[in-house]
Amino acid sequence: MFQDELKVRIDSINQEIEELLPKPRLYEDCLGDPLRYSMRGKGKRLRPLILEETYKMYGGSENDGKYLGIALEMIHNASLVHDDLPALDNDEFRRGIKTTHAEFGESIGILAGDGLLNYAYEVATTGLVESKTKDYYSKALSILANKGGIFGMLGGQTLDVAMTGKELDLKMIKFIHKGKTAALIQAAFACGACAAGASQEEIEKLMEIGLSVGIAFQIEDDILDVTSTSEVLGKPVKNDEKNHKTTYVTVKGVEGAKEDVKHLSQKAISVYDTLSAKNDFLRELILYLIERKK
Ligand code: IPE
Ligand code: IPE
Ligand code: MG
Ligand code: MG
Ligand code: MG
Repeated sequence: MFQDELKVRIDSINQEIEELLPKPRLYEDCLGDPLRYSMRGKGKRLRPLILEETYKMYGGSENDGKYLGIALEMIHNASLVHDDLPALDNDEFRRGIKTTHAEFGESIGILAGDGLLNYAYEVATTGLVESKTKDYYSKALSILANKGGIFGMLGGQTLDVAMTGKELDLKMIKFIHKGKTAALIQAAFACGACAAGASQEEIEKLMEIGLSVGIAFQIEDDILDVTSTSEVLGKPVKNDEKNHKTTYVTVKGVEGAKEDVKHLSQKAISVYDTLSAKNDFLRELILYLIERKK
């Protein structure tokens, strides 16, 4: 039942992506082609899913959730295109297909990541122009920009790179996870609610939920890197060791890490249950992520 619902929503997000991606040009389209390529792999679409669910949860019924959700997925995808570059994690396989730079060359990979990041804001600001509740929308947009930038995902990715090869304690690892991964998950929980006009108190709770879910999500990613297979994940495994990364699993082991995923998710649920609005699907999604296989 939940799985069926999930599929329906992911299909709908994939359609929205197709609608909002730049249309192919008649002649050579050096940037559009890799940009569309990078968006069309089989991603889980977790971030737009959460954003659109929170938008509906707080009574949103316009297109604002769609624009913000797809913009967020584009920021996430841009982060993946750059994360896979030879200068970062040097990966040639993602979402079951060749990474963007492996397919189009390194220079185009760099530019496609930039192009996608900028295009995300073109999509997000188109949504602002069309929004009927611009006050709410602009506040959501400011959260999106902040969480994607130097105080969020990009800051975390930079720290991840700077700390490569070093021995890290749990506090530092969590700090990196907070930036590189939890920031965009926080944006997913907060932006939709914000665009729908939720109160500041609710938004702060959603930020807290996003922080716990986001850190748990990255810990699980670290776990799957050592316990899963590249066929299931659609990306290489044993990658963190190859890249000399000290991860959550390096410090706490697989079992310890699993315990913490559970604990953080339950913490998120306990805050979730105090929210003034309800969405059973979103609650189930948080619990489902504890057991995710990819
Ligand atoms: C991968 O994110 C990078 C991390 C933050 C762990 P996802 O696991 O959400 O990747 P896709 O979007 O489903 O490919
Ligand atoms: C990446 O973390 C997080 C991003 C912001 C892209 P990882 O480097 O662990 O993600 P994967 O395992 O390559 O998807
Ligand atoms: Mg990385
Ligand atoms: Mg990586
Ligand atoms: Mg990883």
